[in-house]
Amino acid sequence: MKMNGRIPEETVEDIRKATNIVDIVGEYVQLKKQGRNYFGLCPFHGENTPSFSVSSDKQIFHCFGCGKGGNVFTFLMEVEGYAFSQAVQQLAEAAGYSLPESATDKTPQQSSEAQSILEAHQWLEKLYHHLLRHSKEGKAGYQYLLERGFTEETIERFQLGYAPQSKDFVVKFLEKKGFHPQTMVKAGLLNVNDEGEYADRFRGRIIFPIHNHHGKTVAFGGRALYDHDPKYLNSPETELFHKGKLLYNFDLARAAIRRNQSAVLFEGYVDVISAYQAGVENGVGTLGTAISDVQAKLLHRYVEHVIICYDGDEAGLEATIKAARLLKRTGCQVKVARLPDGMDPDDYIQSYGAERFRQEVIEAHTPYMTFVMNYLKRDYNLQLEGDRIDYIEKVLQELADLDRGIEREHYLTEVANEFDMSLETLRQEVQELRRSKAPAKDNSRAVRHTNTKTAIHLQDKLLPAFQNAERKLIAHMLRDPHIADKVQDEIGGNFNIDQHQVIVTYLYAYYEEGNFSDTAQFVERLSDPDLKNLVVQLAMMPVLDEISDQEINDYIYTIQAEQSNKHDIQSLKAEQKKAEQQNEPIRAAEIAMEILQLKQQMKQS
Ligand code: CTP
Ligand code: MN
Repeated sequence: MKMNGRIPEETVEDIRKATNIVDIVGEYVQLKKQGRNYFGLCPFHGENTPSFSVSSDKQIFHCFGCGKGGNVFTFLMEVEGYAFSQAVQQLAEAAGYSLPESATDKTPQQSSEAQSILEAHQWLEKLYHHLLRHSKEGKAGYQYLLERGFTEETIERFQLGYAPQSKDFVVKFLEKKGFHPQTMVKAGLLNVNDEGEYADRFRGRIIFPIHNHHGKTVAFGGRALYDHDPKYLNSPETELFHKGKLLYNFDLARAAIRRNQSAVLFEGYVDVISAYQAGVENGVGTLGTAISDVQAKLLHRYVEHVIICYDGDEAGLEATIKAARLLKRTGCQVKVARLPDGMDPDDYIQSYGAERFRQEVIEAHTPYMTFVMNYLKRDYNLQLEGDRIDYIEKVLQELADLDRGIEREHYLTEVANEFDMSLETLRQEVQELRRSKAPAKDNSRAVRHTNTKTAIHLQDKLLPAFQNAERKLIAHMLRDPHIADKVQDEIGGNFNIDQHQVIVTYLYAYYEEGNFSDTAQFVERLSDPDLKNLVVQLAMMPVLDEISDQEINDYIYTIQAEQSNKHDIQSLKAEQKKAEQQNEPIRAAEIAMEILQLKQQMKQS
């Protein structure tokens, strides 16, 4: 908040107004419009059914699952770990504002060690790149890349580099820059032996900088220039680099992924880069390992459609089926782009060119189920009746796992036609399998689909009437200054829930300054994150646009009744105590009865 002192509040507001929260959130979450709001999978907690919503009218987001909410600044702070000023700065740049220098010096969020690891990577990326372009030794690397068909533009875009065949070139470089060698070992940039001597980790290798999703370099991949072992050497796992959590090129591909509404998954960086050059800009890659659960979920947050494009050999096929099943389970629509046996995407592009790669490999993808059916076929001799039945059984089991009825029906028809069987029989078989397979799973899914709505209604029902009245009233007050005026006249800040009191007090002040209804701006005033979340939650509450005076009066009445009842109970309790002290047990009992009745009344109202 203290940044507000440095960046003028009007500037912050201008920047916020120049930004549409739906666009910003849309870069991180795949959003679907439903009624007036957009829904998607919450980036702040793991979920399979969307309970994260964004309002374009109000410029706020809220998750019914985990309760997080706020405006576009809050979103960036949460999702990127930014300080407020960094969030403002980022949006300012996007909106074409320039902020005064002093306002933008970034407060480091990371530990100083992590900070220095990031800096070292930044320096080294530049150094390796420079050596590739301008050093004598780097020429060989440069030549190698050109021979592999990489263009100038590609080398620039991916900041490819060269690590010299030297024991201590990088050791010296980092030392001169003032980096602590022990930290650099932790960073995976240097090796250390038993004698405590430091040495370069990457030597005589083409360098592929590996960025995290925010575009920060956190690791390097190195390919041997000539065929010596190991062919590929990557940075080790560090505090900032977990190769099972990151997808190569995700930062650069994000825009294209959104544009295409699909991502292409490759096995490694060479394929990603080669495909990029062939015009496939939405490619991302794992780093020579099987795709992990985290990576699959990450992808699913951004896209529904994923095309897997792995090597065209046996290992590639096995990896493809694993990745396909995992992505399918995560909820993606999976497609498979297959290559001729023995070729990887890069080989294919070199041999047949960009256009054929795009048209005959990527665009010629097969749907998930077709791929799986073909994969299963390999184990059977379909000429034999026994094998045929076993095969069909296997296929039906796969079909039973498909969530969408249309999809099941489509492939059932295909199987029925291919093997000349009765569609009805196959259908019953699948129904049977679905029932026996996971009744619990199916139920939970059905519940989860309605989760958000029921959660809200349930909550409404469970809360006492006066609290609901306060919540509804605030929801309307946030929308309409006139309603706030009326409520202020009638009861001022006398809400029963403390948090509500604080919110309305701020809200009155906000409107008194002549502001219009603008929840996204208003929440900026509240420094307490719980309060912010509550305001956003109330603002997102489904209430009708029109509210009659009668309804407002009813809410006010409920709130006041609670207060006077509370007040009555308090004075009755005092009387009861007095009666006890004065040794009048019957009188005390009568009062106790009255209190009980009052409390019951309150519950019923
Ligand atoms: N990879 C990796 N780490 C390894 C092995 C592989 O990161 N230890 C990644 C690289 O990104 C590489 C991809 O996996 O691009 C594919 O590896 P591999 O099939 O072994 O490479 P090739 O395609 O044969 O390599 P090249 O075309 O350079 O000969
Ligand atoms: Mn290759």
